[in-house]
Amino acid sequence: MKLIFAFTFCLFFCSSKAQYANLLANVHGRQHFSLNGQWEVIVDPFNAGAGWKPVWKDQKPTGKYDFYEYGFIPSASLKVPGDWNHQKPELLYYEGTIWYKKTFTKKPGKNKRTFLYFGAVNYQCDVYFNNEYLGSHEGGFTPFHFEITNKLKDTNSIIVRVNNQRKAEDIPALNFDWWNYGGITRDVSVIEIPLNYIKDYKIQLAKNSLDTIAGWVQLSGDDISSPVSISIPKLHLNYKTITGMNGKADFQIAATPQLWSPAKPELYDVFISANKDTVHELIGFRTIQVKGNQILLNGKPVFLKGINIHEEIPEEKRRAFSEADAEKLLGRSKALGCNFVRLTHYSHNEYMVRLADKWGIMLWEEVPLWQNIQFSNPAILNKADTMLKEMITRDINRCSIIMWSLSNETSPSADRNKTLEAMAGYARGLDNTRLITSALNHVRYDGNTITIDDSLCKVLDVVGVNEYLGWYVPWPSKPQDMIWKNPYNKPLIMSEFGGEALYGQHGSPDNNGYWTEERQAQIYREQIAMFKNIPFLCGTSPWILEDFRSETRLNPKYQQGWNRKGLLSDKGLKKKAWYVMHDYYKEMGK
Ligand code: GCU
Repeated sequence: MKLIFAFTFCLFFCSSKAQYANLLANVHGRQHFSLNGQWEVIVDPFNAGAGWKPVWKDQKPTGKYDFYEYGFIPSASLKVPGDWNHQKPELLYYEGTIWYKKTFTKKPGKNKRTFLYFGAVNYQCDVYFNNEYLGSHEGGFTPFHFEITNKLKDTNSIIVRVNNQRKAEDIPALNFDWWNYGGITRDVSVIEIPLNYIKDYKIQLAKNSLDTIAGWVQLSGDDISSPVSISIPKLHLNYKTITGMNGKADFQIAATPQLWSPAKPELYDVFISANKDTVHELIGFRTIQVKGNQILLNGKPVFLKGINIHEEIPEEKRRAFSEADAEKLLGRSKALGCNFVRLTHYSHNEYMVRLADKWGIMLWEEVPLWQNIQFSNPAILNKADTMLKEMITRDINRCSIIMWSLSNETSPSADRNKTLEAMAGYARGLDNTRLITSALNHVRYDGNTITIDDSLCKVLDVVGVNEYLGWYVPWPSKPQDMIWKNPYNKPLIMSEFGGEALYGQHGSPDNNGYWTEERQAQIYREQIAMFKNIPFLCGTSPWILEDFRSETRLNPKYQQGWNRKGLLSDKGLKKKAWYVMHDYYKEMGK
């Protein structure tokens, strides 16, 4: 009875105090020290550590009859950041709880506030600081943090319970086509900021304007009605304002910055100061709009020469998390001739979006509402909005991001439309300057005519369509004879298309069943022939840059746990289809 009581109490206690972190913008620009490195771990398949063997208490034996089975030891450790699946063979398919522990010494800063920041943890975690419950977070791809200002001791311990079990009520849900990498998958750091600090801000060109920088600054702390200055030296701009009683100041500043674009990815040093806090950012200025069924970058029509990327380094079978990883993935995109990348199916680590700013690559970023989401569950909208808020708050000043995507291949229904329409409104409330999109696959085939048939288009600025003609869907007629109908008259991005090939497998260009490079290349030639007859096509994004890991791709000869739709193999080698796509983009010119 005693054990059951303890278990129940702990669950109630933890869930009753579960909190989502408040948000602190621009961690990269803050004074912080890293907690990356080896963390001690306990693998806990039965999740016993959250109940009758409270790992988070980190108890040590004192009396002669004391013993604690669930204890951390230095030799049992995992590297952070990093998914656990690739670090130990026995964790390759692991879905469950793993407890992490890290200790650090840190004197509390005088007149400072201190936060514990996580770049991402997949999928759900409970965080304990010096053996006291701090808070919880759900969602595997967005940052969060908790304040530890008055909790710091000379030596501090962090214990994190991470669980990556898939659940029907989660986002994504039970089934998805990428590896279920669990763990503390991105950077962890301690951030120190002044008592009165700059919590958040947006500094971008005003919607539809090329000569007005608009946005807001939000302060936090006790003294939040205070002067604020925004300085952009290269524009000889030093704007001063004062926040209201709510700590917020909106502004519109006349300015004519050099516009950011793939051809010239101009970034400006921006300094925001208030009280004793100053934050530095590199910010680009551009507009992105829709005019009829065209996408305009800085007022001019643009064609998005794209590619899809998972957040993964296939050669090492692991989640990508570092700046070097971002350079590899975006470098491979540029080599293909891309000016656009769809970050699928979730927001990637912050190095990716900051590098895209620097290199001039436009981005589509999305929340992981992938296919079979439990839209009938009222909790889904709150979870989805929380993920949108965490994604948009982190990246709102990243000019490379031109679109926020709500979902991928969700099936039309009353619940789904209601949820996604509400999300579209929420996203626009957070950021009215970027376009709202979604990757749809509900199209109607009538002989050689394909009609985009999803009423969700009404609330989208840009429509993404995932179609696999030639792979999952036989061509109903010659590709060049296909006719696309666009009843909602929105710009169309072919957000996924392609087929599988095992690198080095050669043979017929006509049969899908042998995973030949020739067949994959033929599918791309057929797709390109069709694209040339779609007047409202504003972008193409092949599925996918590289072969990627998936527990649902198990053909023992051709897949072995890999989805083989990459233009590059899992070793980064170019398949024949890579050259077809490269030449298509090259012929388009800049
Ligand atoms: C879908 C889905 C992808 C998936 C792909 C495939 O379109 O969006 O996540 O990997 O098809 O079947 O390979």
